[in-house]
Amino acid sequence: MMEYFQKTQQAFEKYRAEGGLLLGIESSCDETAAAVLRGGREVLSMAVHTQIPIHRLYGGVVPEIASRSHTERITAVTEEALNKAGVTLGDIAAVAVTSEPGLIGALLVGVSFAKGLALAGEKPLIGVNHIEGHIAANYLTYPDLEPPFMCLVASGGHSHIVLVKDYDEFELVGRTRDDAAGEAFDKVARALGLPYPGGPEVEKLAREGNKHAFPLHTPFNSDTSNFDFSFSGVKTAVVNLLHNARQKGEELDKADLAASFQHSVVETLTKKAVAAALERGMGTLALAGGVSANTALRNSLERACRKAGLRFCRPDMRFCTDNAAMIACQGHYRMLKGARSDLDLNPSAESFLSK
Ligand SMILES: Nc1ncnc2c1ncn2[C@@H]1O[C@H](COP(=O)(O)OP(=O)(O)OP(=O)(O)O)[C@@H](O)[C@H]1O
Ligand SMILES: [Mg+2]
Repeated sequence: MMEYFQKTQQAFEKYRAEGGLLLGIESSCDETAAAVLRGGREVLSMAVHTQIPIHRLYGGVVPEIASRSHTERITAVTEEALNKAGVTLGDIAAVAVTSEPGLIGALLVGVSFAKGLALAGEKPLIGVNHIEGHIAANYLTYPDLEPPFMCLVASGGHSHIVLVKDYDEFELVGRTRDDAAGEAFDKVARALGLPYPGGPEVEKLAREGNKHAFPLHTPFNSDTSNFDFSFSGVKTAVVNLLHNARQKGEELDKADLAASFQHSVVETLTKKAVAAALERGMGTLALAGGVSANTALRNSLERACRKAGLRFCRPDMRFCTDNAAMIACQGHYRMLKGARSDLDLNPSAESFLSK
């Protein structure tokens, strides 16, 4: 192990001085992904194998099935990314891999695979935090974006307001007290009889509904003197409305319910994120994570930022949900800051952001 670290020290320093091709690998949940970047921001290729059709059968991600699918696909997905970029493994200067947080078995597949490539090819390795990766998706979309800025991270497992002080320095300003925004979308979708993952399905249905039909706002979520959220109450309110109507033999307008739920989540996220950016004197508010694909949220934040005099950034659609380009990008900046991993890199299921 010692030998690997020493052997690759020169290559690490060369990458930091001159840049080069970076291979990113992501396997934290239900997407097996690889990407090739030149330097930190130029995406040469992306390959993603999504397991959504497999997990849809069960209404959510089944961890053991996810790990097996990653194992089956990771080699092919990596080859696809290399081929699309027109390069070989020999051309790759360093390897970045998601090491936390996520499903432990799923993370293990990517981390073990990346370690194998790094060891065999004598390339430096960097473990990357998945949430930091989501934030970095904005660097890929805006070539001029640099910290500091405020970032709203809304994904399947997280809802955070993060002050991005530097590429490798973060402060958690607000967080969900219970469900993540994406998780609430998924659970409401299930209650409405929509397939997994629920976010895009709820969004589609919401387009046909009246967002003011069911007032679902809570005092806690409307209070901008603190930056925490709670989505469990809104989710439960939707479920209760459905149950009560069913018991009475009535049918609720599901599009109205979807629109009202989405409106409540979007309003909460928008108000709190903008208030946090202003309070901390930031000129830019960025959006990140799978829920950033939601058009209502993107539009609402864009409007609110314009009104507040803030620059608004959100990832290109292809960088919103899990992908490896964002992981490689964050790995690049971590390495420029001097960080690298050894072969004892271990995945971790928990962890919000490394400091
Ligand atoms: N258009 C959309 N509207 C609302 N939610 C969406 C939309 N598209 C995707 N989502 C939600 O985003 C989540 C998936 O995002 P992502 O892949 O970043 O989550 P994850 O990787 O599972 O969780 P984490 O990043 O927190 O570890 C799901 O909950 C999904 O429902
Ligand atoms: Mg994610």
